[in-house]
Amino acid sequence: MEAVITIGRRKRIVLLYLLFLWHITEAQIRYTIPEELKEGSVVGNIAKDLGVGVSEISHRKLRIASESGKEYFSVDLGKGELLVNERIDREVLCAQSVSCILPLEAIIENPLQLYRVEIQVLDINDNAPNFQNHKNILNVAESTALGARFRLESAQDSDVGSNSLRTYTLSKNDNFILDIKTGKDGSRVPELVLEKSLDREKQSQHHLVLTAIDGGNPARSGTAEIDVNVLDNNDNAPVCEKASYDIQLEENTTRGLVVVTIRAVDPDEGANSEVRYSFGPHTPEILQSLFSIDATTGEIKVTDEIDYEAGTSFEFDIVATDTGAPPMQGICSVHIDILDINDNKPEIILKSLSSPVREDAPVGTVVALISAKDIDTGDNGKVHLTLQSDLPFALKPSISNHYALVTDKALDREQHAVYTIQIVAVDSGSPRLTSEKEITVDILDVNDNPPRFAQQLYTVYVKENRVPGSILCSVSASDPDTGDNAKISYSILESRHQGVSISSYIYINSDNGSVFSMHSFDYEKMKTFRFHVEAKDHGSSSLSSNATVHVFILDQNDNAPAVIYPSAVMGSVSHQRMPRSAKAGHLVTKVTAVDADSGHNAWMFYRLVEATDMSLFSINLHTGEVRTKRAVYEHDDSSQRLVVEIKDNGETAQSSTVTVDILLEDGIQEPVSDIRQKNSDITKGSKITFYLIISLASVSVLSVLTFVILLVKCARNSRGRTSCCVRRSDSDDYKNPNRNLQIQLNTDGPIKYVEVLGGDMLSQSQSFGSCLSPLSEFSDFTLVKPSSTIDFKELNVLDASLPDSAWTFESQQVSAQ
Ligand SMILES: *[C@@H]1O[C@H](CO)[C@@H](O)[C@H](O)[C@H]1NC(C)=O
Ligand SMILES: *[C@@H]1O[C@H](CO)[C@@H](O)[C@H](O)[C@H]1NC(C)=O
Ligand SMILES: *[C@@H]1O[C@H](CO)[C@@H](O)[C@H](O)[C@H]1NC(C)=O
Repeated sequence: MEAVITIGRRKRIVLLYLLFLWHITEAQIRYTIPEELKEGSVVGNIAKDLGVGVSEISHRKLRIASESGKEYFSVDLGKGELLVNERIDREVLCAQSVSCILPLEAIIENPLQLYRVEIQVLDINDNAPNFQNHKNILNVAESTALGARFRLESAQDSDVGSNSLRTYTLSKNDNFILDIKTGKDGSRVPELVLEKSLDREKQSQHHLVLTAIDGGNPARSGTAEIDVNVLDNNDNAPVCEKASYDIQLEENTTRGLVVVTIRAVDPDEGANSEVRYSFGPHTPEILQSLFSIDATTGEIKVTDEIDYEAGTSFEFDIVATDTGAPPMQGICSVHIDILDINDNKPEIILKSLSSPVREDAPVGTVVALISAKDIDTGDNGKVHLTLQSDLPFALKPSISNHYALVTDKALDREQHAVYTIQIVAVDSGSPRLTSEKEITVDILDVNDNPPRFAQQLYTVYVKENRVPGSILCSVSASDPDTGDNAKISYSILESRHQGVSISSYIYINSDNGSVFSMHSFDYEKMKTFRFHVEAKDHGSSSLSSNATVHVFILDQNDNAPAVIYPSAVMGSVSHQRMPRSAKAGHLVTKVTAVDADSGHNAWMFYRLVEATDMSLFSINLHTGEVRTKRAVYEHDDSSQRLVVEIKDNGETAQSSTVTVDILLEDGIQEPVSDIRQKNSDITKGSKITFYLIISLASVSVLSVLTFVILLVKCARNSRGRTSCCVRRSDSDDYKNPNRNLQIQLNTDGPIKYVEVLGGDMLSQSQSFGSCLSPLSEFSDFTLVKPSSTIDFKELNVLDASLPDSAWTFESQQVSAQ
């Protein structure tokens, strides 16, 4: 009767209702059956259990009613057996409750009787444990500590009791173990425990299978797959492909060139494996300005001009950092060697220059110190210096790349005052680079040149009687030196002329070399003189030179002819006598005059200006001979007076007169006896005549001798020549003055006068020859007629006309010395 107690409230209502309708028997029948019986399976013989005979079954209409309405069972009216009408699933009927009782009513009519029948449905292991999710994903960070637990989904088993879930198993794996916890209600909860640390980089996913096993016999199981994803942890630093990169780079590399690409690998994934590149923390800024690194690609590029001379190699670190958190870093080093190219010109450095250089500097004098430099290396930095070859300088190499510029030849400032020396430096690179430098070297003057006169010999013609202080000439000298070394002072070298100091004749302007006279000169006293001028420079040891000035004084017609014969003693008239018997042409007398001037100025003309009887006498224009024109008549006055004018040939002619009284006498003889009569007079001068003749003879002999010697010499010296001429140049005339003696003889009968002529210097303008020709056998000894028409000026004959009885001899010493 305990079943009643267990009936639910709803059933009780139904039961009350039934009680109301029918008599409810207290009898209770219970059958126990396993679930899942086949249809038609016999649960039990209900008729028998109810005490109803088989014959009564159909009569009393035994039937089964289910409270739930679902007809799981039926009654076999023939046998009175309770049969399974429909599949009974305990899990549907009773879910998880351990006892599952299906209440039934057995109804019998006639009389109506109601019986309670309970059918206990026993569990059979017909359900396997089941996981709700057959695929599970578990994300586990790889850094998870050992022992960490991950709760897994429990499996469900509809069966109850021993058929329910009993345990779990886990597929074999390296990292996890399974731990099953039992809850307070006895439920079992599987948990994964990390037993060995995970490494995503080794295995990023673990496939586990969890199997739930129930306690049935045979046991049934259900599985669930568990995919354990190992979550990446930034536990790996990026690693460069190479620990160090060695690169060689030419120094003139263009900007933007990729030098190298750094690649670092990070086995992590995602952000943890994304690598960013950067320079190491202590990379100098200068280096960072030369190179750049692309953060993402790792390309190292040239960003600035690479200059070998600024740095021959670079070493720096590249840091590869991943983007994980925390970031991990890897470091690699880059070594860049810069290769030198010949990109630098050699440089010439002037260390010292001693300019100006004295022109008398000895060969080898150091003028400048020069060094050459090329900042390239190797051959690119080897420098060679060269010099223009035509300069008097040389480069002398001294210690490494140092040179001394020295003089190579003697210098002469007067030829070259300034040198521009071009020095060329060439390096040995390829291609060669050159540079040039100009050095200007001034040459310092040294007083090495004496002043030089424009002429060594000056010839000056000066008219006599000029006012004192007038300019005679100007000499000039030049000095190729400079400055004081070229500054010239002129002076007259002291000498004496005719016993008088030359400085009393002339003075010189010491600045410009103008020579002035201090006297007026008188040709008749001094025809020529010479002096030496000196030019002296102002150098510290002064140099000088001299020149000779010859002054020739030119004659002016400043002297009137002077009558020598017939001598008029103090104003008295000269008296001459002649015989009355004289015939026409009788030489009465000869008027002789001298003119102190020379040349034309001394050329005299004689004229009769007055006569007692003009028809009786005539005078030779040139000779001054007074002759009778006709025979003397008886009636002619015995005293005749003649006035003779003597006039010279000067520009402004000068003249003088002489008065001659002639006495016509009957008794006197011819002029021959006249001479004899004058024997006493002649003997008076015979001694002088004798000496003169001796000296003339010796001069003649000397001359002839000289010519013989000359002839021999000429013949030897010029065999090939047609003639032998010795030409005397101007200067020869002075150096070897050849005195030209002329003797003029009166050829008109007895010697009335002798003229001794001395050739002189003024003829220097005419160079006359001493030639061996038939016409001039005695070139230096010439006979000329008194009335010769030879130009006196050219011949420069010194006349010394002498009266018959009183001979004088004037010798002119006219020579350079
Ligand atoms: C670098 O220099 C070399 C040799 O002088 C030359 O051949 C080359 O063209 C240069 N490169 C650049 C980029 O200027
Ligand atoms: C030299 O100087 C003097 C005086 O000053 C002058 O009379 C003369 O003409 C000058 N001579 C020359 C050649 O200049
Ligand atoms: C003039 O110069 C010459 C050399 O040129 C020298 O021999 C001579 O002695 C000099 N004369 C005088 C007077 O100084």
